[in-house]
Amino acid sequence: MAALECDRNFDDLAMRFRRNIYGSLKGQIRLGVLERDFREHIPHFLADSSGLTIADIGAGQAQFSHLLAQYGASVVLNDISEQMLQLAKDNFVQDEARLKIIQCPLQMLSSTLSEAKFDLVLCHAVIEWMAQPFTLFKYLRELLKPGAYLSFTFYNMNGLEYKNLLRTNYKFDADNFRSFRGSLTPWHPQKPEVMLEHLEAHGFKTLVKSGIRVFHDYILDPEQRKREPEQVFAKELEYSQKEPFWQLARYIHYLCRYE
Ligand SMILES: C[S@@+](CC[C@H](N)C(=O)[O-])C[C@H]1O[C@@H](n2cnc3c(N)ncnc32)[C@H](O)[C@@H]1O
Repeated sequence: MAALECDRNFDDLAMRFRRNIYGSLKGQIRLGVLERDFREHIPHFLADSSGLTIADIGAGQAQFSHLLAQYGASVVLNDISEQMLQLAKDNFVQDEARLKIIQCPLQMLSSTLSEAKFDLVLCHAVIEWMAQPFTLFKYLRELLKPGAYLSFTFYNMNGLEYKNLLRTNYKFDADNFRSFRGSLTPWHPQKPEVMLEHLEAHGFKTLVKSGIRVFHDYILDPEQRKREPEQVFAKELEYSQKEPFWQLARYIHYLCRYE
């Protein structure tokens, strides 16, 4: 199975990922947008959620599913990276009884679990690291109960194009983009409208569309970027659903219902 061998295992990026993403305002904005979208559309996952089941696919260090687990749901964490899952496990100490960790390619998870279907599947920032990104949706579908929810985020091609323009990198060509191995820039950035088409074709109805980091990453001066973090956070939430800004964000969140 050549495609599976080529998906990006984060073993060598685990510490860098924790430091660069979740150790900064970038990660706080990411979690803040997700939490706000959940609170507005599926608040029962942020209240007593005992009895509900969640699968976090390509979970990495599982920062968001850890937050959800605190409300009582049972959580399955899946990833191909042993290092990322080890860091996730360290986070989950107090919730260990309701936690199952399955290290395998997401493409094999459904057969590993046999009958298990979930009330909620999270798949955050994974598709852009897959060798065959568009195959993802059929694997996600296999994991969901009818009427269940999918929280899906992806690295936005619009954001990458815009960032390159702001940096006067006029050679950037979105249609022939190649990332460097070892870099934190994903291999396959995706276009929001293309992701919507795939989701719809696979039976997902989108409840909300939000941009994650609509302007923070574009502030060129690193010192300016660090100023007034509370204001940045509040403005990021405000602009995350505003037309046309959300479509320029670095990541996009689609919260969907599986019909
Ligand atoms: C950018 S990280 C995202 C982690 C986490 N979902 C988050 O949003 O913080 C991408 C993760 O996907 C995992 N991954 C890549 N291909 C995978 C596959 N085929 N099956 C399971 N996990 C995969 C990587 O090892 C990595 O931990």
